[in-house]
Amino acid sequence: MHEKVRINSADVKYTEKHIESRYCYHTASVRRDGDTSTVTPSSTEFIFRTERKVPRLGVMLVGWGGNNGTTVTAAVLANKLGLTWKTKTGLKKANYYGSLLESSTVCLGSGPDGEVYAPFRDLLPMVHPNDIVFDGWDISSLDLGRAMERAQVLDWSLQEKLWPHMSQLKPRPSVYIPEFIAANQEHRADNLIRGSKAEQVAQIRRDICDFREKSGVDKVLVLWTANTERFCDVTPESTTRPRTCSTTGREVSPSTMFAVASVLEGCAYINGSPQNTFVPGAVDLALQRGVFIGGDDFKSGQTKLKSVLVDFLVSAGIKPTSIVSYNHLGNNDGLNLSAPQQFRSKEISKSNVVDDIVQSNPVMYRPREKPDHCVVIKYVPYVGDSKRAMDEYTSEIMMGGTNTMALHNTCEDSLLANPIILDLVILTELCQRITFCTQDDPVFQGFHSVLSLLSFLCKAPLVPQGAPVVNAFFRQRACIENVMRSDAITQNTVQKRLKSYEM
Ligand code: NAI
Repeated sequence: MHEKVRINSADVKYTEKHIESRYCYHTASVRRDGDTSTVTPSSTEFIFRTERKVPRLGVMLVGWGGNNGTTVTAAVLANKLGLTWKTKTGLKKANYYGSLLESSTVCLGSGPDGEVYAPFRDLLPMVHPNDIVFDGWDISSLDLGRAMERAQVLDWSLQEKLWPHMSQLKPRPSVYIPEFIAANQEHRADNLIRGSKAEQVAQIRRDICDFREKSGVDKVLVLWTANTERFCDVTPESTTRPRTCSTTGREVSPSTMFAVASVLEGCAYINGSPQNTFVPGAVDLALQRGVFIGGDDFKSGQTKLKSVLVDFLVSAGIKPTSIVSYNHLGNNDGLNLSAPQQFRSKEISKSNVVDDIVQSNPVMYRPREKPDHCVVIKYVPYVGDSKRAMDEYTSEIMMGGTNTMALHNTCEDSLLANPIILDLVILTELCQRITFCTQDDPVFQGFHSVLSLLSFLCKAPLVPQGAPVVNAFFRQRACIENVMRSDAITQNTVQKRLKSYEM
């Protein structure tokens, strides 16, 4: 196994199977007495262990025939085949821009020629997106060639090159319960698993086994990128384990059924849409089985910017008081979101993103005080996948002054979401190979089943019960960077690494 970043330190050990590193985590506890805070620093010593062998990864997408499903499959194929294609502005080449792991870098330290940066992907052994094998389900029977054409995202000359490959791929039949997605989706539903909910879950499980067997992959992850569902009612039946998904469970949604089937097959499950898939019974099942779950809702455009901008404003001591976000889009996601219940799921997901940032500043905000925050989404067919996002941020500045910023963003929605899909599955797979122990608890264990490390990639991060939700962009990124650094590098050896950084 050849690592592109090798650490030259007594704290890092390379064995045939593992990279093992010792890491000292510094924190502090605070006691408040009136206006006095007493801070007591403490530290815990961790040993992180990462399996070096990277498995062959299979990813099953629910909603494979949609804009995200087809585009991410096409993008990976185009990268794997090293495709180039001509557009009116010149020759384009397949790439992975927008991926945290593939296209953003971390500073390793400084060497004789200045600072040395490496992409995240080189910090630890991880799956390369080109090696992912895709499969999946869709209620629409179109093969991926025709579905890619329907999506209208990629340039036509690229589609032509991909057509022979994409048209061979066919989504498996899926679960369609009309009351969970918008009525305007009904015409797509011609590729369905019939039977009771228990029978449908059993079929999904068979599909996972079938894919694993036929493709020869070592590991399968399942990711929901199908239409946004309405929120389900959390009833007593969904707080108990929904593992059998009985037909009487009216509020058990298709996305929860997929989550249950995946967990029962030992496959991590990620929810890329806003609905409340992870009802207490589903979370409980994942915890009992020790299987990762993550979500909710890809954090791609407007919300990502919001988690940067509000963090910047509040960190600069400027007080945002009103945030108004308009979107219009013309793809099938937009059509589905034009129905009130599905819009409501998205509205909830988008609305809590500034909470932790605001709560971090008791100088400007009273307890429970929040900026006004309004989200509007409209369906405008003509703009297709090229989503428009317009935001107005109004803030209070010094001495009664007002600062208003207006932003306008135009962007292909699916091309923002695709790299996030790749990062989610690659990061989840990596986490499955990491274990740690501490000086107090020397037994190696994995991360909590609710994988909050994925927060950076999600609009409404799912975290273990009682854990704080972090939305602020750079805190979320630091969390991933710290885990990778602690595992690969250890912070106190960062400066020593340069000598051993081989590209
Ligand atoms: P899309 O509408 O093009 O694709 C969704 C696909 O899911 C369709 O092909 C549909 O036939 C299929 N589908 C619906 N119900 C299904 C079921 N029960 N089982 C299997 N397939 C089913 O939507 P798009 O643009 O691909 O987005 C997918 C999801 O990702 C949406 O929920 C969207 O809100 C979410 N999302 C997208 C972002 C983006 O930037 N594109 C950002 C954040 C979230």
